[in-house]
Amino acid sequence: MTPQTNFSGSARAGSTGGASVTQAGHRLLSAKAERFTESVIREMTRLAMRHGAVNLAQGFPDFPAPSEIKEAARQAITDDINQFARTQGVSVDPEREITVCCGSTEAMMAAMMAVINPGDEIVVLEPFYENYGPDAILSGAAPRFVKLRPPDWTFDEKEMTAAFGPRTKAIILNTPNNPTGKVFNKAELEFIRDLCIRWNAFCITDEIYEHIIYDGAEHISMARVEGMRDHTITVNGMSKTYAVTGWRVGWAIASPETTAAIRKVHDFLTVGAAAPLQQAGAMALRLPQSYYDKLANDYLIRRDRMLEILKQAGFACFKPRGAYYIMTDISGFGYPDDVSFAKYLVEKIGVAVVPGSSFYNDPADGAKQVRFTFCKTEKTLSAAAERLLKLRRG
Ligand SMILES: Cc1ncc(COP(=O)(O)O)c(C=O)c1O
Repeated sequence: MTPQTNFSGSARAGSTGGASVTQAGHRLLSAKAERFTESVIREMTRLAMRHGAVNLAQGFPDFPAPSEIKEAARQAITDDINQFARTQGVSVDPEREITVCCGSTEAMMAAMMAVINPGDEIVVLEPFYENYGPDAILSGAAPRFVKLRPPDWTFDEKEMTAAFGPRTKAIILNTPNNPTGKVFNKAELEFIRDLCIRWNAFCITDEIYEHIIYDGAEHISMARVEGMRDHTITVNGMSKTYAVTGWRVGWAIASPETTAAIRKVHDFLTVGAAAPLQQAGAMALRLPQSYYDKLANDYLIRRDRMLEILKQAGFACFKPRGAYYIMTDISGFGYPDDVSFAKYLVEKIGVAVVPGSSFYNDPADGAKQVRFTFCKTEKTLSAAAERLLKLRRG
């Protein structure tokens, strides 16, 4: 297990010597690809399997997807929806403003490749979802970090203002937020809006957890904030809302001009997501409000259960207002850092988590944090609870 984040610069980069250099002195592999590591979360999942641990590291639901959506996918295959798909049933102009991609992962990558030029900077709020690191490197953007600080994970206005400048091409926003559970409020979004407009920058906003919110929090989409429609690229997908992380259907919504650029990139990256699953997605987007109410309520029950489990086991928790993760403070356990603690948890306690350092540019910033996910059945959560209690006894 290596304490690396995916923004690892040259100091923590992989080897560039030996076999990676050809006889003619050229690099065999891309220097860009050498600048980031494989997903830390995927590595934790591998360790969980090796040690028979309960996997509370990777955010995939271990319960079934809704039967209506599975039926819609079956029907679409029966109906021979086999060729390239063209539309999604959402309330923006599907012909000019939506690009359906292979998951929001591709939508984010395609959006960044569509807008970034050499020398461009992007503002990244940390802790951040690990993909934004490789996204920045592959698209060629230089990240400028702004800290979100607990307990409410808000940013300092002076730091945010200082991060923007003439080179800023975009800010990457994620609300509701992974890993902190923060839901950005109107005043925070308007502050960011003012900077985007002042510097003519995009807000690329990852809203994949938009329906998973608690305690009366309101999800406000940046595209809805006055003056931001044309400055916003909204990234979203089916994975979390419909518990289908393996279907790989996501989308980017942007102005027609920006969409035209995103579509060109997308077309040469993947051409398109699986057509019958897009068809099922169009059906899913028409589900009644009761589906979304139940989704949020089911997650609220899981969140409260997980908070209780973690408190019993001695963790200090940052209560999330959205998404399905809990960041915890591990200072009380006396381990030197998050990586050694996560290793102990997976090997000796039998629960896999994500070390906090993987969400920060400087691993030291996450050395006292680990992240748990709770998108799991009660059976999985109670198995984890039993194991975590050993922390108290041991
Ligand atoms: C913030 C965030 N964005 C995007 C994704 C990936 O979404 P998709 O399955 O649509 O690629 C995840 C998955 O964990 C996530 O947490």
